[in-house]
Amino acid sequence: MIIKDKRIVLGVSGAISAYKALELVRLLVKGEATVLPVMTSSAQEFITPLSLSTLAKNLVSTSLFERGSDVSINHIELAQKSDLIIVAPATANVIGKIASGIADDPLTTIIMAAACPVLIAPSMNDRMWENPIVKGNVEGLLSVGYKFVGPGEGALACGSIGKGRLAGVEEIFEAACEALTRKDLKGEKALVTAGPTREAIDPVRFVSNASSGRMGYALARAAKRRGAEVVLISGPTDLPRPSGVTCVSVSTAEEMNEAAVRYYPQSTLVIMAAAISDYRPKKSYSEKVKKDASTLSVELERTEDVLKQMGRKKKGQFLVGFALETENLEENARKKLKDKNLDMVVANGPAGLAGATNEVLIINRDGEIEAVPPLNKDDIADRILDRVVRLKSR
Ligand code: CTP
Repeated sequence: MIIKDKRIVLGVSGAISAYKALELVRLLVKGEATVLPVMTSSAQEFITPLSLSTLAKNLVSTSLFERGSDVSINHIELAQKSDLIIVAPATANVIGKIASGIADDPLTTIIMAAACPVLIAPSMNDRMWENPIVKGNVEGLLSVGYKFVGPGEGALACGSIGKGRLAGVEEIFEAACEALTRKDLKGEKALVTAGPTREAIDPVRFVSNASSGRMGYALARAAKRRGAEVVLISGPTDLPRPSGVTCVSVSTAEEMNEAAVRYYPQSTLVIMAAAISDYRPKKSYSEKVKKDASTLSVELERTEDVLKQMGRKKKGQFLVGFALETENLEENARKKLKDKNLDMVVANGPAGLAGATNEVLIINRDGEIEAVPPLNKDDIADRILDRVVRLKSR
């Protein structure tokens, strides 16, 4: 996980959504980051420094002239020894101060002296967000390299509905990871497929498999973080759509094929993590099949092998396939690598299909093999992309 061992200053300013900063701290701490909280005086009207410091397991900076604590907080040192500063929530007032070069509290002082990226998550009333002065401030900050996440649209604390809601905590976390990631896939157009397909028997039944889609979604998120433009074609899953990624939802193998054919020509990197059905019912009933007879046979016919077609039509694309095997993992994976004209194959057992973790063998064209031990799928995704980057630069 990219945020592991990173020093992250979390600035909280005075908006009703300040309570969500507590959840963000929890996520960052879970990712093993060191969280250094800073609160404006208004933020302390909404949540207490005690809650924040308890969750962050660190002192909270609330004043430029801290007294009474055992350790005094050196704001300049905090600014210069941090890997990332997140301001969540960021009010119109704090954004205005940063944009105007005002440094009259610990948060704005740290930001002014920062040598690291600053990620701002605005939270305010919709009219405030639309205000031309606030807009100008945001544009000014964007133009000098500040990063923004959100705001989202929806019901606001003031009662109106519009744009101004603090971005979701997961979205801020993702943006933080992205801000810390080296852009080694910049310029790449990545096409990732994920999840199972469903082949209808009748209107209420289908042939499918246990794929959760997690591996493909982790790959799409990781490629996006690393600077690629990403299209994710996904079969039915319960997973949230990754932000900043073009998502195409499909259901059947045929739809998966159509979408893949559409995006393939302009892609430079293709990762086929989807568990596409190899067979579909030859006949799909228009009404629910009734249980009349004691046995029922469903005749199946082959679907298109999407990846094999891609291998045939390859024009400079770097093609990564998966191999799902219950026996002879390496041997079968090597066979797929050759038969489908791949640049790399990621071989996994059935445990990798639905779980949160995976254990894989990565084999590339020239026969080189890497055994990746059991890891969560985000880490596996980065290990796969590390190898893609290395091979592409050869
Ligand atoms: N794949 C595909 N189209 C299909 C089936 C699979 O593009 N109709 C892709 C998968 O996305 C994966 C790779 O082919 O990247 C290998 O899939 P896998 O299920 O392991 O193997 P198959 O090629 O289907 O062969 P088999 O089922 O005989 O092992």
